[in-house]
Amino acid sequence: MHLATFLRSPLFWITATAFLVTGVLSSKASGIASGSGGAPANSSRALASCSACHSGSAPTPTRTNPPITNLTVGARVLNAGQQTTMTTAVTAGLSGTTGGFLCETTGGTFGAGTGSHINGTGGSITHSNKNQRSWSYTFTAPSTPGPIEVTSVAMTSNGSGSSGDQFSFSGYDPNATSGTPVRLYVLPAGVTNLGIGCADGYGNVPVLGAASSPTLGNAAFAFHLVGGSTNAVALLLLGINPPGFTGVDLGALLGITGCNGYVLNPLGIPTAVTSTGSAIQAAGSTSFPFPIPSGSSYLGFAFDAQAGVLDASVASTRAFPLTMTNGLHVVFQ
Ligand code: HEC
Repeated sequence: MHLATFLRSPLFWITATAFLVTGVLSSKASGIASGSGGAPANSSRALASCSACHSGSAPTPTRTNPPITNLTVGARVLNAGQQTTMTTAVTAGLSGTTGGFLCETTGGTFGAGTGSHINGTGGSITHSNKNQRSWSYTFTAPSTPGPIEVTSVAMTSNGSGSSGDQFSFSGYDPNATSGTPVRLYVLPAGVTNLGIGCADGYGNVPVLGAASSPTLGNAAFAFHLVGGSTNAVALLLLGINPPGFTGVDLGALLGITGCNGYVLNPLGIPTAVTSTGSAIQAAGSTSFPFPIPSGSSYLGFAFDAQAGVLDASVASTRAFPLTMTNGLHVVFQ
């Protein structure tokens, strides 16, 4: 066929249209990068608006049978560079088996699993095909100690383009218009994790960490609680555990059902008040200053710590309404 004749022929237009449709759309079916459309990078709390392109898919307060997005993490309290597994899964919402997700972190890097790929250098991760509703992937903690927030969004789709889909953010309320971050803490040298905290009434687990090492003379050392109830009294339990003590069930002991105690006989219990903010998103945080003395005779001194926060969301499920963090073992460096 002569070139000019070919350009006018139906065959050319069918070929060209098919090429355009595949080129434009297949990249989206395999996930959306943070920074594209309505999906900002590392904006933990007000995560991606997938509705920038998927019209009508956004959460509304009156939506019925919304998708439920669950972000589960292996370890919440990590050492520098430690790797853990995370899973974003979406249930309910549209029936069917197609979907997509985006997960963002304020620190550290994701590594792809089956059906996912990282964006950029790994600050966010998204689906690489639309035939799953659950994605497991890895997360590697950065080398810098401190708190990290990880937030996810996931879509139940109908398998045909960007219309008629529905998404939800991770967190207690599937109709919320922003995601609730899962709080992680990366520990510094000299501080090790003793065990896991327990969930508040909305499924959030507070974490206790420290942003700097307990080196002799470190006047800025502090225990840092994040992801707790808001505007509430927080307690820091300090003690020296006997060798071999691995924790005690506080449900049986004190009616703090579902929580473990990691300080056997507290010797001191300083208190603080957590910050204000969204209770459902467990936006409460506080610090307990603990200046480290400078005398070299303190080198190697070790003790244990754990925090608890008074929590109205567990008033009906715990005889004593406390939500507990992980425990920490501290050794002066
Ligand atoms: C920049 C525009 C844009 C944004 C933002 C966007 N998408 Fe998409 N997405 C598209 C387009 C266009 C398609 C259709 C591609 C196709 O079907 O081949 C699509 C398709 C999909 C599909 C497959 C659709 C189906 O019916 O099976 C999923 C799943 C998906 N997107 C998830 C998401 C999620 C989750 C977000 C938010 C994190 C998001 N998208 C944000 C443009 C976008």
